[in-house]
Amino acid sequence: MNLQRLYNIADLRSAARKRLPRVIFEFVDGGAQDEITLRANSADFARYAFRPRMLTDISERSTATTILGAPAAFPVVLAPTGLAGITHRRGELPASRAAAAAGVPYCLSCMSTCSIEDIAAASSVTRWFQLYVLRDRELTRTFIERAKAAGCRALVLTVDTKVQGPRERDMRNGFTVPPRFSLDTIVDFALHWRWLLDVGLGPKVTYGNFAGSALSTNEAMTITRFIGGQFDPSVSYKDLEWFKNAWGGPVAVKGILTGEDARAAVDHGADAIIVSNHGGRQLDGAVSSLRALPEVADAVGDRAEVILDGGVRRGSDIVKALCLGARACMIGRPWLYGLAAAGEPGVARSLEILRHEFDLAVALLGRTGVDQLDRSCLAPT
Ligand code: FNR
Repeated sequence: MNLQRLYNIADLRSAARKRLPRVIFEFVDGGAQDEITLRANSADFARYAFRPRMLTDISERSTATTILGAPAAFPVVLAPTGLAGITHRRGELPASRAAAAAGVPYCLSCMSTCSIEDIAAASSVTRWFQLYVLRDRELTRTFIERAKAAGCRALVLTVDTKVQGPRERDMRNGFTVPPRFSLDTIVDFALHWRWLLDVGLGPKVTYGNFAGSALSTNEAMTITRFIGGQFDPSVSYKDLEWFKNAWGGPVAVKGILTGEDARAAVDHGADAIIVSNHGGRQLDGAVSSLRALPEVADAVGDRAEVILDGGVRRGSDIVKALCLGARACMIGRPWLYGLAAAGEPGVARSLEILRHEFDLAVALLGRTGVDQLDRSCLAPT
């Protein structure tokens, strides 16, 4: 595959769709119920138009920034996505290597197929670790200690998944981990023989961080069942302080959509707020991330960094988010599409596309770097 002929993230999505069996593609691509929030996450970027300035000298430009105190080549973080290894064998490893080469942080999901230790051994990427709060607090503490030992820089606490969102595409497809061979899927798998040889017939896809724990199981089960059994639905703001103390470094709270929650999270020790609705995979009808961003940025001020997560498909989307107060954007599906299409070079291509588009949009806006992006660059449409 000539990746240079895939010009944008939509092209990478088409390539991923061809490469993956339907049940796997829909697990990545889909959202909750009617996917209203999923669509709004991307569509709402069109609610803002640029107010470009002309005749400014843009010959010296930089896309560089810092995120939670660490340098980044451009304002992007690879979002935590569970089971990346279901699209490409041990997929978190090539993804983290591509992030290292592109100079941006990689956030590992606790629901990944590879373990924290695997990621630490694979590259020197700036790594973050994302955690859900488990009913088993001792296991949660073990995860925190392992993330520390693996040199993770930040802990991301995802707070929007106390129960699993209703993903009807996965229900209809009978999606399980590991993927189950059935009459329905077998033809689909066989028609996607590259994936079948790489993943379907490869080592068993499972939650790498849970290996050896009491939660490790050989049984194929739905994610909803795993989450229902293991995630703690009682978590509240006072628990955030427990996390902050146990971790001792920067904590980002992921899944915030209101100024009230953003303020409370910062009051309880959050160093960053990730404005997110889980890529439209949890509460369908929830406000889009971009729409929530100004409210959160205003509530937080300079007490914490704000990161926008959800719907970013163009470099110009990142520019708009920064104009509205974000320090950086997380991207989920864009790098997963690249991974599914072509492994490490595919993830590298997704980052190259977004960085190039970001630089181009900043230039055409008549600006030279991230510190010149503010609300004066935008007009409502
Ligand atoms: C996710 N997301 C997610 N978030 C999280 O905190 N922990 C996780 O394990 C996962 N797993 C996961 C799997 C898959 C397949 C997807 C697509 C997403 C949500 C993810 O971090 C991020 O919030 C969204 O992907 C952002 O939206 P975009 O960039 O995909 O539009």
